[in-house]
Amino acid sequence: MIPARLIERKRGGGTLDAPEIERFFGGYLAGEVTDYQMSAFLMAVYFHGLERDELAALLRVMIRSGATLDLSGLPIPSADKHSTGGIGDKVSLVLAPLAAELGLGVPMMSGRGLAHTGGTLDKLESIPGFRTDLSLSRMQEVLRSVGCVMTGQTAEIAPLDRRLYDLRNATGTVASLPLIATSIMSKKLAEGIQGLVLDVKVGAGAFLPEEDDALELAETMVEMGETYGVRTNALLTAMDRPLGGAIGNALEVREAIECLGGAGPDDLRELTLCQAAEMAIVSGVRPSPSAARAAAAEALDGGGALDRFASMVEAQGGDAGVVGHPERLPRAPVVLECAAERAGVVAGIAPRTLGWTVVEMGGGRRAVGDPIDLSVGFVLHVVLGQHVEPGDLIGEVHAADSDSAACACGALRDSVEINTGSSVSPRPLISHRVSAVGVERL
Ligand code: URA
Repeated sequence: MIPARLIERKRGGGTLDAPEIERFFGGYLAGEVTDYQMSAFLMAVYFHGLERDELAALLRVMIRSGATLDLSGLPIPSADKHSTGGIGDKVSLVLAPLAAELGLGVPMMSGRGLAHTGGTLDKLESIPGFRTDLSLSRMQEVLRSVGCVMTGQTAEIAPLDRRLYDLRNATGTVASLPLIATSIMSKKLAEGIQGLVLDVKVGAGAFLPEEDDALELAETMVEMGETYGVRTNALLTAMDRPLGGAIGNALEVREAIECLGGAGPDDLRELTLCQAAEMAIVSGVRPSPSAARAAAAEALDGGGALDRFASMVEAQGGDAGVVGHPERLPRAPVVLECAAERAGVVAGIAPRTLGWTVVEMGGGRRAVGDPIDLSVGFVLHVVLGQHVEPGDLIGEVHAADSDSAACACGALRDSVEINTGSSVSPRPLISHRVSAVGVERL
């Protein structure tokens, strides 16, 4: 194989056959294809996409790059959820222990921050001591003892995705339908689960902001899941504004703990309950969405989900005391309150600007392997449709120093659109369900 010839063909819009895909990506894992060659190939895929057979071959190589969990001995049904990525999306932190409370085994494999979006692993690592690099056998032990486990790809599990993920993050090649679909589905299908729920974001903060593209992504991933025998449903959910109020790693863990305790922002709770119900449906542990939702609400309000989260944190080496004492999470030295400059109605909150500002503040990576500041970010104090007066608090900035805080406060003011007119038309929180039987508008 001459890598440059395959790159040239893809760059020209041509197709590769399955053995070529296997050799190119296998060669990357073996050190025969370099990072710069893979980056060039990813950029060609970004512009030209992948044909159906190329996509299937890439998914196969990615799954086979590591081991697949064998959950056949697990005495309960297993299911998981994955989001295509958004701003303030901390649902996984709440959902894994919540679904475990519903009687599911949840072996959740997540990723790090990607472009302007945060990553579950980074968020979890803001809990002192929390390990996200569990071996396959430790992952299974935690799953069996706690009912849920949240970890990252290692040399054993989906290693090709981990390497491509880092490279895509550093080379502006994240927002590609085939690369997102194979990245997510390789991790999820390596988990050996029976049911899967996909949260496909749509709107300005999503990698694929347009509804048609998001639907195509959802349909592609549902088909991949079903092809591998995993019952898969996708929900299209709003990312035209951030989810909840907290944006930034430790701040999001804090808000997730509030939600686990039955409080927290309404949109976060609602989306989490709907996804929990969907997980119960794909794995058959509850007869109806309403029964599943009621059980999930009870697990949040009754404290069961929070206790389960604490057990998981402890089993993964973390300080479970953060549950009762969130002040033990990393805290930024500077907290600046930002006020509205005029009166009106909050008509929009631009998620992408806020996400990139968190990266700018040090809360995300500019290059592969960069250390990140887990304490920085925003806490929004307004929601869409809310009326504000000049001087009203729109949000807090948590920053490493006062210069960075002042810049971020400017970005927050730019992101929050305040109109004198009264009509605000946000996307519905959940707009579509995609399953093996087709697309349903909700
Ligand atoms: N989440 C992933 O795991 N991969 C992507 O490419 C996007 C979101």
